[in-house]
Amino acid sequence: MTETLKIDLYAKNLDATQAIAAQLAQIVPIGTIILLEGNLGSGKTTFMQAFGYALGISTTIASPTFTLIDEYTEGRLPLYHIDLYRLEPSQVPSLHLEEYWRGEDFPLGVVAIEWASKLPTIPSQYLKVNLSTPARSFCDKDIYLSQADALDEDFIDALSSDRLIQLIAQGKTYVELLNQLQSTSQEDFAKVN
Ligand SMILES: Nc1ncnc2c1ncn2[C@@H]1O[C@H](COP(=O)(O)OP(=O)(O)OP(=O)(O)O)[C@@H](O)[C@H]1O
Ligand SMILES: [Mg+2]
Repeated sequence: MTETLKIDLYAKNLDATQAIAAQLAQIVPIGTIILLEGNLGSGKTTFMQAFGYALGISTTIASPTFTLIDEYTEGRLPLYHIDLYRLEPSQVPSLHLEEYWRGEDFPLGVVAIEWASKLPTIPSQYLKVNLSTPARSFCDKDIYLSQADALDEDFIDALSSDRLIQLIAQGKTYVELLNQLQSTSQEDFAKVN
């Protein structure tokens, strides 16, 4: 069996992103590592809020940008939600993130890392979730710009509510997880390719 699998999903709105995250939360096994990537405001925290809710966490999941690591223990599995945005890669080792997936210092659960691109070394197996705003044609942008001269292109991207969600499984367990996500989806997730 292949050790890597990549699927591109199109979420036409916020509900669609939340549905994908919730579907994933139903099937993740203990010990799962999720690496979240994507620009500011692309939806990493939003994805994890829906994921956590579907995991059975009733506490509101906040952005860990300032707390760095938030732990939620009332769901089906413990959730460790991490945000590396404010750190330099050289500062990351002192967080000892491996304690969250080693299963000795903390009960094993799901580790989700926003701004995972700052990890100096990435785990050998993981699910990567990469959120982005689909490229707009000039025509679309012109419609917005004609409505408000002050809007710049980044702002228009931030206002839009559709997203490309690229899922990359690295390692056998994660490839199986992605295959299961595709086959058990109640929603008919729009695949881009
Ligand atoms: N389809 C969508 N998927 C995800 N978020 C969406 C979607 N449509 C609109 N949004 C909005 O985009 C914003 C995403 O913000 P969020 O804090 O989740 O981003 P982030 O990637 O975590 O940013 P940061 O890098 O600052 O942590 C939210 O306000 C959310 O409601
Ligand atoms: Mg965030």
